[in-house]
Formats: sequence, C-alpha cells, structure tokens
Amino acid sequence: MLFKKTAAILAPMKILGIETSCDETGVALYDSERGLTGQALFSQIDLHATYGGVVPELASRDHVRRLLPLVKEVLEQAQCAPTDIDAVAYTAGPGLAGALLVGACSARALAFGWGVPAQAVHHMEGHLLAPLLEEGGPDFPFVALLVSGGHTQLLEATSLGDYALLGESLDDAAGEAFDKAAKMMGLPYPGGPRVAEMALQGNPERFRFPRPMVDRPGLDMSFSGLKTFCLNTINACKGEGDLAEQDCADICYAFEEAVVETLLIKCRRAMEQTGLKTLVMAGGVSANKKLRARLEEALGKKGVRVFYPRPEYCTDNGAMIAFAGALRLMAGDQQKDLAVSVRPRWPLAELSVPSA
Ligand code: KG4
Ligand code: ZN
Repeated sequence: MLFKKTAAILAPMKILGIETSCDETGVALYDSERGLTGQALFSQIDLHATYGGVVPELASRDHVRRLLPLVKEVLEQAQCAPTDIDAVAYTAGPGLAGALLVGACSARALAFGWGVPAQAVHHMEGHLLAPLLEEGGPDFPFVALLVSGGHTQLLEATSLGDYALLGESLDDAAGEAFDKAAKMMGLPYPGGPRVAEMALQGNPERFRFPRPMVDRPGLDMSFSGLKTFCLNTINACKGEGDLAEQDCADICYAFEEAVVETLLIKCRRAMEQTGLKTLVMAGGVSANKKLRARLEEALGKKGVRVFYPRPEYCTDNGAMIAFAGALRLMAGDQQKDLAVSVRPRWPLAELSVPSA
C-alpha cells in the first residue's frame, strides 16, 4: 500500500530496509510513491536446523556473507541506482547483538557513503506496521497482538510510535513455546509451522491441554507451563520407545489448540477493555492459519475487524523495516548522530512519536 496517513509527508522517498536481527537476512526497497519495488530474503533455517535453534555466532557470520549481495539484488530488481536512495533503514533491536551489529554497521556505512540518513528501526514496530503495507490495511488506533519467537504482547497502538503495553507473556513467547514443543517431539526447527502441519492429522478428542492464566484477570500470559504439560504427555505416550506419529499429531493438535484459544481469550478481553474495533496481528506466529481463522471468526461476531499481513510479511523480512523506516522518516523523525549502536533488549513502549 502507498502510505497516505502520516502527519508530515515530505518529498517522495526511496528507502532501503535492512533486517538482520535473528536468522533471516532481509533487504527491501520501499518507494513512498510506488510501494515496494524490490525485496530479497535469505533464511538461515538450514544453517541452524542441525542445532535445533539459532546459533548467534553462525547467524552473525552468515549475515556478513549475505547482506551486500542481497542489497545489490534488490537495487537491480527495483532498477534503482545507489544515488536514487534517500535513506537506509535498519533493525537496531531487539534481537541478537552480533546479528544486529552486522545490519547496523552495514546500513550506517552505506548511508554514510551515499550521503543519506540512516534510520534505526525497532524490529517489533516493523512487525506491528507490516499489516499496513497491504492494500486496504488498517488505520490507527488498533489493538496489536504481536506474536513472534521472542515476544508475545498485546498493545494499544494509538498512532505511529505511540504504543501502550496492555499485557505480555511473563515467560516464554508463543513462538518459543511452539519451537520448544516441536524440539521435544523431534520435529525440525522452526517448530511453529511443523507443529501446525502435524496438528492437521491430530485427533481433536484425545488430549486437552490447559489454557494458562485465562481465569486470572488482566492481559498477561504464560506459555512455559504448557511446554511442561507437553513434555509430560510426550513421556506418557512414548514410555521407553519412540513417539508414534499419531501420538505426535494428537499432541500437536492439543498444543496448538491451547495456544490459539489462550490468545483468543486474551485478545477478546483486550478488545473489550479498550473498546477498539480493530485488531492487528503480526509476527511469525500470526502466520498460523488456525489462529487467524479463530480470531477472525470469534472477534468478527463482536464487530471486530482482524488484520494480518500475508505470510511472508509475518516472519522476519526487509520490507517491514523499509516501510517502518519510511513512515518514521516521512513523519519527520530524524537521527542525526553517526554512532552505530544496537539495543538487543528494547521495550516497544519506549518508542517515541516522531515529530516533524
Ligand atoms: O517473527 P519471527 O520470524 O521472528 C522473531 O522475531 O522471533 O517469528 C518466528 C517464530 C518462530 O517461533 C516460529 O516457530 C513461529 O514464529 N512461526 C509459527 C508459524 N510460522 C512461524 N508458529 C506457529 N504457526 C506457524 N504457522
Ligand atoms: Zn520478528
């Protein structure tokens, strides 16, 4: 979508976006007049699969290898010369320190060399804004459900940069719980898509996993107990042998169902509490088909419209960073200092509203 909603749109802009916060090297070019004109992604999934999770040092080294060729590819795709670029946006946090530094140093060096501004972007703001990239995307204000491998949060998003935390997971993120449950069952990394796939063959009647913290007031969540419940069920099923395929499918079904329903209960509560009628879901777990369908169906009955990005913009990508950077720059955000700094931990609610 071409953005038309920011307060202080300056001249048309072409913004290069760089994402390296974890295990995906993402690059994209966002043109404020034409939308996304180029994008490329390299996923390191195969590199980390042997270890059952992301190895930070390997991730950083691979970002070094992949980044500049991807930048070149995106510029060619967009038929854009470096001299046409107006700014370089990059993920400055949260994420893995080394991986973030690769993106930050490269983006700042490119921006300095090209004589244009560099714009630090919060990774979760990138996720949160990704649904706005779509044609007919939502308008502020809305409730955002951010569900990724590192975060599970409900926020009230009033305007660009104005995000109030309503509730969050007190322990594991939903994606992390999916990944850990998958690992326990011997399913490959990343676990979320594998668990969802296995769940399709699962028997809905066999197991019922708990819905954590739903009987307590408030919007905080917890997913680590679910993981323990999952482990106990796996052990009970397999005894001394291997986990049978049908047992695995049945556990996946019950696990996914418990996560989806817990998120639904908390989202419904957040909509009632805020009185808002728009829910935006984003982050890797928002690619989950059951979660999308359940939220749309249950909240739709209450007059709530649910928005989510297309699957490739749910997981990490350069497009959301280019877009978030573009919105901030167009709203007048300016970062004048040349320091390369990253914030591996960075609460979203600490972001400020850009002012022209
Ligand atoms: O947003 P993302 O790509 O990276 C982070 O910022 O963390 O999210 C990755 C997470 C992983 O935990 C992955 O298992 C989960 O998103 N995920 C899913 C699905 N696709 C990705 N979880 C459940 N169902 C899916 N279809
Ligand atoms: Zn992410």
